[in-house]
Amino acid sequence: MTKILMVCLGNICRSPLAEGILKSKLPSDSFIVDSAGTASYHIGSSPDKRSIAVANKHGLNISNLSGRQFEVSDFDRFDLIYAMDNSNFDNIISLARNKVDISKVKLILNEVYPNQNYNVPDPYYGGHDGFENVYKMLDEACTLIANDLN
Ligand code: 4NP
Repeated sequence: MTKILMVCLGNICRSPLAEGILKSKLPSDSFIVDSAGTASYHIGSSPDKRSIAVANKHGLNISNLSGRQFEVSDFDRFDLIYAMDNSNFDNIISLARNKVDISKVKLILNEVYPNQNYNVPDPYYGGHDGFENVYKMLDEACTLIANDLN
C-alpha cells in the first residue's frame, strides 16, 4: 500500500481537490490518498463550496471530506507528502524530525515543472475562475504522479 498526503493551508480548497483527483487516478486497493492543512482554521469543515462545484463539474464528489490539520505523525503514516505551495512546504519541513521525514515532502507542481518551485495559487479570496485554474493544474500534476506510481 502506498500512502500519499496532499497538504495546503486550510484543507478546504486546494488539497481536498488534489485528494479527489489523485484518488480517481489510482486503484484504491493499493493506494491511500488523504489531505490535511497546515493551519487549524477549518478542522472538521467540508471543502469550500467552490472546490466541491469544480470537482462535480469534472465528475468527482469531494463533498464528504472533512478538514484536518497536518500533524507530525503524518510523516510516519505517509510515503509521499505533496505541498501545494512554498509556504505549506516550509511549514511541513519545519515539523520534520529527520532526513527521512524531509525526503517525503515535495512541491506538487515540481512534478510538472521540475525544480521550478511554482505555487498552486491559493484560490480562497478569488472567484470561480481561480478554482477551475487550480483544478487544471492539479489534474495535470496528478496525472503525472499516477503514471509514475502505477
Ligand atoms: P486552501 O485555501 O489552503 O487551499 O484550503 C485556504 C482556505 C482558507 C483560508 C486560507 C486558504 N483561510 O484563511 O481561512
